Amino acid sequence: MVKLRVAVLASGSGSNFQAMLDSAALTEAGAQIVCLLCNVPGARVLERAAGAKIPTEIVSHKDYAAREEFDAAVVERLRAYAPDLIALAGYMRMLSPVFLRAFPDKVINIHPALLPAFPGVHGIKDAWDYGVKVTGVSVHFVDEGMDTGPIIAQQALAIEEGESLDALEARIHKIEHTLYPRVIADFARGRIRREGRRVIVEK
Ligand code: GRF
Repeated sequence: MVKLRVAVLASGSGSNFQAMLDSAALTEAGAQIVCLLCNVPGARVLERAAGAKIPTEIVSHKDYAAREEFDAAVVERLRAYAPDLIALAGYMRMLSPVFLRAFPDKVINIHPALLPAFPGVHGIKDAWDYGVKVTGVSVHFVDEGMDTGPIIAQQALAIEEGESLDALEARIHKIEHTLYPRVIADFARGRIRREGRRVIVEK
């Protein structure tokens, strides 16, 4: 039985999207990916969706003069799928209030660093360049800021002595690919609720 209809928004490679498609935990919990929306025509993630026969929507931000107009178009497309959860997975757009008001408490994102450290588009490299000893992955609710919403789950990893950026990236992505589907499964099981900035995840 489908308990959670999930729309995924992505702009690029889509390895996290692929991990969701491949996750038995996600399916067993009753989550179903009902559509993939992409703002970059030709992005690799679209091939992945086609391969898995997931309906796709392409809305290019370049076709809209203002962010709010673009978001309104995205909202309209998404509404057709009646999503219970919207999972950003490498979606390279900030969300305006037009979007967030349409789906309150339903939009989540994955970020490849331990927030609030190293927000933004280069989280892995920024942490590596800084020389931190511990970094990781965060899943959080989305608000209007850049990676500033309430944190749902985090997983840390220790950076090894002399570890290359490439090696670190590979390890971060591996964590992402298990953590994100697990969080979505928890949503499907009704285990996640937000109380202000605090997110309670029942075991
Ligand atoms: C991931 O590292 C994610 O944390 C970040 O963007 C990247 C997307 O990678 N938000 P992919 O497209 O899922 O491979």
